[in-house]
Amino acid sequence: MTDDTVELEARLEEQEAFEPPEEFVEQANVSEESIYEEFEEEWPECWERAADLLDWEEGYDTVLDDSNPPFYEWFTGGSLNASANCLDRHLDERGDEAAIEWVGEPVEEENRTYTYEDLHREVNEFAAALTELGVEEDDVVTLYMPMIPELPIAMLACARIGAPHSVVFAGFSADALATRMNAADSEYLVTCDGYYRRGDGLDHLSKANEGLAGVDHDVEAAVVVERLREGDGHGHDLADNQRAYADLVAEHEGATVEPVSRDAEDMLFLMYTSGTTGQPKGVKHTTGGYLAWSAWTSRAVLDVKPEDTYFCSADIGWITGHSYIVYGPLALGTTTMMYEGTPDHPERDRLWEIIEEYEATQLYTAPTAIRAFMKWGTEYPDRHDLSSLRLLGTVGEPINPRAWKWYYKHIGDESCPVVDTWWQTETGGMMVTTLPGVKTMKPGSAGPPLPGVDARVVDTTGEEVEAGRAGYLTVNKPWPGMLRTLYRNDERYIDEYWAEYSDTDSDDPDDWVYFPEDGAKVDDDGYITVLGRVDDVINVSGHRLGTMEIESAIVGVEGVAEAAVVGGDHEVKGEAVYAYVITEDGYEGDEAMRERIVAGVEDAIGPIARPEQVVFTLELPKTRSGKIMRRLLEDIANGEDLGDTSTLRNPDVVEDIQGKVGGD
Ligand code: PRX
Repeated sequence: MTDDTVELEARLEEQEAFEPPEEFVEQANVSEESIYEEFEEEWPECWERAADLLDWEEGYDTVLDDSNPPFYEWFTGGSLNASANCLDRHLDERGDEAAIEWVGEPVEEENRTYTYEDLHREVNEFAAALTELGVEEDDVVTLYMPMIPELPIAMLACARIGAPHSVVFAGFSADALATRMNAADSEYLVTCDGYYRRGDGLDHLSKANEGLAGVDHDVEAAVVVERLREGDGHGHDLADNQRAYADLVAEHEGATVEPVSRDAEDMLFLMYTSGTTGQPKGVKHTTGGYLAWSAWTSRAVLDVKPEDTYFCSADIGWITGHSYIVYGPLALGTTTMMYEGTPDHPERDRLWEIIEEYEATQLYTAPTAIRAFMKWGTEYPDRHDLSSLRLLGTVGEPINPRAWKWYYKHIGDESCPVVDTWWQTETGGMMVTTLPGVKTMKPGSAGPPLPGVDARVVDTTGEEVEAGRAGYLTVNKPWPGMLRTLYRNDERYIDEYWAEYSDTDSDDPDDWVYFPEDGAKVDDDGYITVLGRVDDVINVSGHRLGTMEIESAIVGVEGVAEAAVVGGDHEVKGEAVYAYVITEDGYEGDEAMRERIVAGVEDAIGPIARPEQVVFTLELPKTRSGKIMRRLLEDIANGEDLGDTSTLRNPDVVEDIQGKVGGD
């Protein structure tokens, strides 16, 4: 390093606040601080501004109906179609512009550009095909697909005919697919033969078929996209009720399907996410509120403009991809990028190469990825011209100031604002983050709540905590993008999100407070730093996993008597899965058993939930009342000082476990 760069690094290291770059502010979609006050004064009518970003078939008469909290309704009386908003209305002005730029993982591949015309055509054809297969309005269609263009096409085709989609992350296992199809009573599946990972063609259809075998009701039809090339496993045999995607689309060539008019409150999609019990939660999002929210936040926070080439590196199998690869960007008529593979294939500069080639204007990614980039070193981004970038974003987990600054300097060249966006599957879109053209950025802190969002940090009684003190994050007013309920389970919706801080007997919306189950602190300027989950959910590489789900997978392995799973700190992934396991009499906690446990978790959930460490123990630390002390297990995983353990029923076990962790 030269003296100059040493000095620069040192300055950056100390700097705690960063102003939005002037050049950015000058062109930002939102650049007036007054928006915060206006939204407060005009609440809830302020959200008309979000609704105004959409085309409504029938105008709404009420912005917010809060007569039956927490079952809020937004833009009631209005009707619209999400696919018409993402496609049809852009055709006149942007028909020839790229809607999706898709980059396949194999480098020698022809990448695909879908103009708005192309996308509109194929969505119509596939919508016609779905109708022919028997899909009707309100039927849930499961999409078990990786990052291929047919996934957003299928989502928009479902939206066009008013059939809610339920996307299941392609990395999830066959069991996970079956669980989700069963929970949603879904009779239709769209999947594919396989996809590419680090150069290899990966079979996906066998997994999908195995999942279908576990579905407890009749499956009317499955559609299979043939993604793999000849020689890589292309062209599986299809079952009687399975149809090849390409054939279906060809049979409906040139078809047009009138977009179905959906009420604002009609379900657009379901997304299953992990909670504290073993059963995933079916988060229900609506057509009007969700679409308005994803469009509004894409515009205000990601500064998306139609002429941009916007790149979010998330997977559409998670909420980030729904809101910020598909719905938000396409509603705004921009070019959204999709990359099939991993950032290190064929080399560790793949993302930077893509950004240079397509002149991407925004990059929205996860702290886990940034920490990996940091580890790999600056030589990879340094090989490429990244000057097309105007804004950087992160999502999914807390970002430490060092990673933030690395991103700001080495990817953004100190000229792009970085937005650290806090939100959840349930919130539909961003809630807490800086407006990039307005607010000072503080690395490590997500920022203030967005205008019109009433997020607070409170103590156990619901009182706001003093600046600098840790507490719990709450959202004290509803917002259009919020989940409406858990699919067919209103009771669990109330229990999980509202019961903690609300007077559940009250009809007054002021008595209802949403609890996202995150810990947080707030500073003197109202900037919120999210500290992480306070429930039994862990966050591995920005992916949410319920410890109970993993535990039930482990106890399902032959010879396992009991298991406790916690998250331990991990340099790149943020958290890693630590499993403490007691074997049944007659079974050894040996390498073979460890392998069976890992395989059991992969089968039940998928490789993302694979335990980093399996620690065999004779007992688990328990309180006198028999509750497993998870915090203690977490501290053990993190090698932390355990303090007083005398309240345990079995304090001796602690030392025994400590000796085993890290010993693998
Ligand atoms: O703990 C918070 C963390 O991710 C959780 C939500 O996970 P999921 O529903 O899978 O959605 C991820 C993508 C939005 C939250 O409860 N989280 C998300 N964003 C941040 C975050 N933690 C800290 N900082 C963030 N920016």
